[in-house]
Amino acid sequence: MKTILITGGAGYIGSHTLVECLQAGYQAVVLDNLSNSSSEVLNRIRCITGVSPIFVQGDVCDAEVLTNIFSTYTIDVVIHFAGVKAVGESVQDPIKYYKNNVAGSLVLCQIMCNMNVFKLVFSSSATVYGDSRDMPLREDSLNTSPINPYGHSKLMVEQMLSDLAKSDPRWSIAVLRYFNPVGAHASGLIGEHPKGVPNNLFPYVSQVAVGLRPFVCVFGNDYPTADGTGVRDYIHVVDLAQGHLMALNYLNAHNGYFLWNLGTGRGYSVLEVIKAFSTVSQVDIAYEFLPRRPGDLAECWSAPQKASLELGWNASLDLNSMVTDSWRWQTLNPHGYDVEEEG
Ligand code: NAD
Ligand code: UD1
Repeated sequence: MKTILITGGAGYIGSHTLVECLQAGYQAVVLDNLSNSSSEVLNRIRCITGVSPIFVQGDVCDAEVLTNIFSTYTIDVVIHFAGVKAVGESVQDPIKYYKNNVAGSLVLCQIMCNMNVFKLVFSSSATVYGDSRDMPLREDSLNTSPINPYGHSKLMVEQMLSDLAKSDPRWSIAVLRYFNPVGAHASGLIGEHPKGVPNNLFPYVSQVAVGLRPFVCVFGNDYPTADGTGVRDYIHVVDLAQGHLMALNYLNAHNGYFLWNLGTGRGYSVLEVIKAFSTVSQVDIAYEFLPRRPGDLAECWSAPQKASLELGWNASLDLNSMVTDSWRWQTLNPHGYDVEEEG
């Protein structure tokens, strides 16, 4: 049985990927500092899979913690999710982003090298494409720079990983650029619960539908799109998690540096998302038009063909599944993993 180290495995995408990996027969060690997650997720994962992953509470920037993990367990491959991801916060506090995302990845790679582990899957983001207008975005659509420190931190790690793979043929590295991950596990046991007011559309709309917030603020209705609102490539988190399994399979057969978009290849507008939530929840969801949010693009969607051709991976869950699963998670867990938390 192969053993995976999953950094950030208690988080939103990490927990869904952990489920897929355990169900595929991998053994997993989770490293997470719980800065944006709860240890309750591990109980939920045991309910879904019947397996308790090994959990280490610690920081990916801590070389001693990492060395201990690699000395205690025979790790075959690492999936590296641990990091911080709020675009606005990255503008206010860039050091936090360069420390957790860039320095954390650097320490991880150093220790992997020391411990002779050379297989790595890295969570990157469509944010690296900046304000490229090259729709749909292909892996080589990097004709503009990222527009915020979060995006820079992801692109810097991509560059570091590409250089590492060139320096030593033992490395086998998959970089996955996610588009807009949404939805939740079909069990309703795990999902995303952002702290405070959600920045992202899906959690915001579902909090309006469940009655935690009065209306959705639609940022801009004057974009050059079909209905004037922003268009994004939303991808179900379970499809995304399965993309990681396909990348692991690929790394077992290939050495080098590989890069794939993980998206569906089609976009939905803000109003289409609100409508889908209204249909699924049977709640009339109020919304108001506000000015555009600074830094937002009119539209952003992927060309997913490279992952399809090389990994044999295709997103299969549609907008209705994304909304149905988000809604199930939201209604069963209105306060996320924390029953004490105030709305
Ligand atoms: P998340 O915040 O739910 O998960 C990240 C996890 O990492 C959390 O459990 C957090 O506690 C942990 N963590 C943060 N810093 C750490 C550190 N220094 N040491 C150890 N643990 C740490 O976020 P997510 O949505 O699951 O995102 C996972 C990864 O995917 C991130 O790297 C993120 O940048 C990337 N990504 C996310 C999205 C998205 O929309 N969710 C899109 C593109 C890329
Ligand atoms: C944002 C991040 C991106 C990150 C992604 C994670 C920015 C500029 N980009 O992408 O780096 O990878 O989240 O999913 O922050 N919207 C509303 N009302 C809301 C929230 C959003 O109208 O309350 C609109 C936005 O204007 C946009 C769409 O909904 O058109 C999607 O927004 P969001 O979910 O925040 O994702 P992105 O901005 O695409």
